[in-house]
Amino acid sequence: MSDEKYYVTYNTIHNAVKRLSEKVLESGFDPDLIVAIGSGGFIPARIMKTFINRPIFAVGISYYGVDNRHLESPQKIQWIDEVEQKLTGKKILLIDEVDDTRATLSYCVKELLRHEPEEIAVLVIHNKKKKKDAEFPPEIKRYFPAKEIDDRWIKYPWDAEDIEDHDQCEKSMKEHNA
Ligand code: G4P
Ligand code: MG
Repeated sequence: MSDEKYYVTYNTIHNAVKRLSEKVLESGFDPDLIVAIGSGGFIPARIMKTFINRPIFAVGISYYGVDNRHLESPQKIQWIDEVEQKLTGKKILLIDEVDDTRATLSYCVKELLRHEPEEIAVLVIHNKKKKKDAEFPPEIKRYFPAKEIDDRWIKYPWDAEDIEDHDQCEKSMKEHNA
């Protein structure tokens, strides 16, 4: 992975989600509900609701332990047990911020598929172009990454302690690459 960090602002994410919402609908996929993978998928999912107004169900899945090392496999922190039956026969738009190793995403897809939804479409802000540790099952026919990027560490605005400084970093990065 390159050392150079990749900064994204709230506005960049908002615009990316707006463009993606148009793509989703143009593809003929009209979701019944949104599933957000927390915590990174929460804010993108909420922005999506502005453009595609559907209920959001939240799931928490972690692939990192307290020492910031990968667990053996992704683990559910929070799941939608009491409403699982609401997934059956439904079109689900699954949202996360980043497709990195794909381990969390594909685990989540497999768990959701157990409830026999009509279809699941996967939407992410960033897809890292790298070798993935897991693949999506063949049931996934629609995949919407807003942006394909090299294997760099992405700095999301919700992690920023100084948001003005964060926004300036995105600006400098863009000027540098212009
Ligand atoms: P994937 O299926 O989405 O590829 O996820 P993977 O299992 O590889 O693990 C993803 C975890 O690593 C997620 O955190 C994700 O947010 C974080 N991550 C991966 N690459 C980046 C990056 O470039 N920048 C940032 N900021 N985070 C990255 P998580 O443990 O699931 O929790 P959360 O942060 O979403 O709460
Ligand atoms: Mg995440």
